[in-house]
Amino acid sequence: MKVSIASALVLAAAVPAATAAGDASCCCSALAAIPALKGKVYVPESAKYEARLQTYYSANAALAPWCMVLPESTKDVSSIAKVISNKQCPFGMRSGAHSAWKGSNGIEKGVTIDFSYMNATTYDSKKKIASIQPGSNWGEAYEALNKYGVAAVGGRASVVGVGGFTTGGGYSFHTNARGFSCDNVANFEVVLADGSIVNANKSKNADLWKALKGGSGNFGFVTRIDQYVVESNKLWGGFVTYDLSERDTVFQSYIDFAENMDSDLASQLIVSVQWDGTKRLLLSVLSNSDAIDNAPAFDEMFAIANTSTTLSTGDIADLVPQFTGPTPLGLYANWMAGLTSNDIRVMKFVERKHLEYVNKMKAAAPDSVFSVLVQFQPVTQSMVQHSSKAGGNVLGLEDIVADGATIMWLIAVTVDTEANQKKIAPLTLQYRNAVNAYATKIGVNKNWNYLNYALGDQEPIKHYGAKSVKILKAAAKKYDPKAVFQKLRGSGFKLPA
Ligand SMILES: Cc1cc2nc3c(=O)[nH]c(=O)nc-3n(C[C@H](O)[C@H](O)[C@H](O)COP(=O)(O)OP(=O)(O)OC[C@H]3O[C@@H](n4cnc5c(N)ncnc54)[C@H](O)[C@@H]3O)c2cc1C
Ligand SMILES: *[C@@H]1O[C@H](CO)[C@@H](O)[C@H](O)[C@H]1NC(C)=O
Ligand SMILES: *[C@@H]1O[C@H](CO)[C@@H](O)[C@H](O)[C@H]1NC(C)=O
Ligand SMILES: *[C@@H]1O[C@H](CO)[C@@H](O)[C@H](O)[C@H]1NC(C)=O
Repeated sequence: MKVSIASALVLAAAVPAATAAGDASCCCSALAAIPALKGKVYVPESAKYEARLQTYYSANAALAPWCMVLPESTKDVSSIAKVISNKQCPFGMRSGAHSAWKGSNGIEKGVTIDFSYMNATTYDSKKKIASIQPGSNWGEAYEALNKYGVAAVGGRASVVGVGGFTTGGGYSFHTNARGFSCDNVANFEVVLADGSIVNANKSKNADLWKALKGGSGNFGFVTRIDQYVVESNKLWGGFVTYDLSERDTVFQSYIDFAENMDSDLASQLIVSVQWDGTKRLLLSVLSNSDAIDNAPAFDEMFAIANTSTTLSTGDIADLVPQFTGPTPLGLYANWMAGLTSNDIRVMKFVERKHLEYVNKMKAAAPDSVFSVLVQFQPVTQSMVQHSSKAGGNVLGLEDIVADGATIMWLIAVTVDTEANQKKIAPLTLQYRNAVNAYATKIGVNKNWNYLNYALGDQEPIKHYGAKSVKILKAAAKKYDPKAVFQKLRGSGFKLPA
């Protein structure tokens, strides 16, 4: 069973102790006693419970709770919320369970609410709105929308869940053209702590609507996301790999591309360096959301000698499965991120330290099969302007991009076993801290950590800035006056104290 581990890395993300009151037998039996939840409460050692633990992207996150409850409707969620509040039950909540850190989406001493069976997608072709349940993953959502010839501003990997992705922002193949996933939400259906079911949109509970665009699980259980669709299901994109000797030209082309991104909103670029367990790779992901192949924005990239490409035009539903990321399910993953000015020195430093730390990790855990992926992707002024046009979000990026394009960097480390992770985790943190220290030293650190990529100790919400924190605290006070989602929720990122 892949459960708790105690590495330096995960200790940094401690789960708060349960408040008095609710205990295992009381909370789980109260849930099981509700007729509508019959058969939907899973207990330890049962086959269903054990099978659910295998569905977490990262073994770090696959915490074994007192029991799990799998709602199948908004009404089920309302019944669950009442039990949680009345019996003071500590809880975790998960949709796709693709956040990696220990405590991101589950809980040990409490009840895990697992939205996986609320995974339907429907489409209203008159309003051009897709209604997507949070437990769907983006692959399923794209499949459902494909027959209507439309897509959504969703994940770039089919396995990623809708609930966490959207409430944490959501960087999509359409983000330069349409903003983040959250900026395309017309309406959230939400179950509040007292069990009431509300809509949050531009004209009703607008403060909650805005708070959920980046505020994650701090206000309620999101039970449906109504999103304006993209009126095309086509995409051009794929991977291009290079010899590592092309590092400087690839990085310079990335920097130039990011500088000019506001002039071609459909084209996007990611550059990655990866240790895949056997070799170091340099690769990019090129995409165009208007399905234009070889857009002029990529001229500089195309001039670089490559070793292979997978570029093609097709349905988004067919193309995204190739972008499923570095590893299969159930390994010990941890992701962490930061953001800097669009400065090539940052890229070169991250790459140089990648080589150095991969070697240190190999020396520390010689038997381990592990991967270390670093990724650079632009956050631009146009992305942020889409947000304000759509009613605003709480990501707090307006000031961050005021001087122009920025680099969002990600370090994702995936280790085969818990014992090896213990050896590698301190080096991972050193690597991250070195990048932050360097960016600060040369004056380019923007001190912003993307929630969907952040490690448990990175306080992404605090880094949204004082203005956003004020909005978020006001919404929490209004919609969750008893602070159930701050005190009893043992998973995910909280509002700063
Ligand atoms: C292979 C891979 C590819 C990725 N690609 C991208 C990408 O292209 N762009 C990007 O932006 N991110 C990407 N991510 C990161 C991803 O956005 C986050 O991991 C996100 O949290 C996944 O959503 P989930 O539903 O699986 O989250 P979960 O891990 O299930 O939940 C994460 C958090 O969201 C909150 N939450 C979940 N469900 C609900 C709900 N119903 N109501 C309220 N709050 C809820 C919870 O509080 C929880 O703390 C990727 C991750 C992986 C592993
Ligand atoms: C929803 O999840 C169930 C159970 O995992 C699965 O069988 C079904 O195909 C999913 N539905 C959709 C629409 O993807
Ligand atoms: C906003 O919420 C109200 C109240 O529930 C609802 O009547 C309306 O249809 C919602 N608007 C959208 C765009 O979903
Ligand atoms: C990759 O290399 C091939 C062969 O040299 C070339 O034809 C192609 O244009 C290159 N593609 C990219 C995206 O660089």
